[in-house]
Amino acid sequence: MRVDELQTPALLVERSHLEANLAEMARVRPGDRCRPHVKAHKSTSLARLQRDAGHPGFTVATIREAEGLHAAGLADDVLLANVVLDARRIGALVADGGRVTVAVDSEVAVAAAADGGVREVVIDVCVGLPRTGCRPEDAGRLAALARSRGLAVRGVMGYEGHLFIIEDASQRRPLVREAMQLLASAAADVGGEVVSAGGTATYAEDIPWVTEVQAGSYVLMDTAYQRLGLPFAQALSVLGTVISVSPQGWAVTDFGLKSLGMDHGNPTVPGHPVWFCSDEHTTVGNSLEQGAPLALAVGDRVRGLPAHVDPTVAMHEQLWLVDRDEVLERWPVDLRGW
Ligand SMILES: Cc1ncc(COP(=O)(O)O)c(C=O)c1O
Repeated sequence: MRVDELQTPALLVERSHLEANLAEMARVRPGDRCRPHVKAHKSTSLARLQRDAGHPGFTVATIREAEGLHAAGLADDVLLANVVLDARRIGALVADGGRVTVAVDSEVAVAAAADGGVREVVIDVCVGLPRTGCRPEDAGRLAALARSRGLAVRGVMGYEGHLFIIEDASQRRPLVREAMQLLASAAADVGGEVVSAGGTATYAEDIPWVTEVQAGSYVLMDTAYQRLGLPFAQALSVLGTVISVSPQGWAVTDFGLKSLGMDHGNPTVPGHPVWFCSDEHTTVGNSLEQGAPLALAVGDRVRGLPAHVDPTVAMHEQLWLVDRDEVLERWPVDLRGW
């Protein structure tokens, strides 16, 4: 099938870029030094490619993602990098032979893990992002509590995502290191072999005590991450059709904020400045100087580059693997839901 034959809006993954991204991560963080975060793509087809690239374990954000990986035979070592207070579905998955380690950051979360049949946990430590995670000084005490409940404590995790918006690497680096020092101090109190942190922005940072990076966006990429100047290519785009062109100098595509995660801003339509998005429309203007004719006609296809990969993918039922104008495969976005 040709890309032009797809119904729009459609989510495209450009194969050459995807392969380059997989290869770059496998080169810099081979094997278990990267634990790809599947929340970025929610697709077992893509997760399988990450495993084939040499990464044996995965990070997930939801129970559904863990279950889907297990059903696909990809749950050899899954880290649920999120706190859950009803862990029974994870317990069932573990009893069925999946390996899922759960993040805990409170006495209540430890009890939920133990009561739900979870066997392994990491202590989630707050390293500056006001989200989940205990204070570094509480990590040792929580680990002791978990062990007293019969749980194996594999180590710690801490997500320094609040620093990833700093575009200048020379400013970002010392702050990331500081945050990771907090995690290292907690790791010393907790014990275990896992120190799990970071993401796409920090995949190449050399912080010796961090054993694995939870990178997700790198594999598909978005324009927000592109600003950091990382060597990952924009593999993901939303294919749209120009449904209307105004003689006053704008054109309208059939993708809008219901097919694009907009929390990091407007999509980019190369060559055509985006004016604004509404539910099912994106209005683009002229790429040339004022007054020059609009280089788009009704029926033209355009590719919009999302500003935020994770929520964009979660809005779609399928990803289309393409090689420029040729459709190669259809991948269900099969890890959606909770
Ligand atoms: C817990 C956790 N780890 C890692 C990541 C890294 O993902 P990315 O590579 O997209 O920055 C995220 C992203 O939000 C996250 O929530």
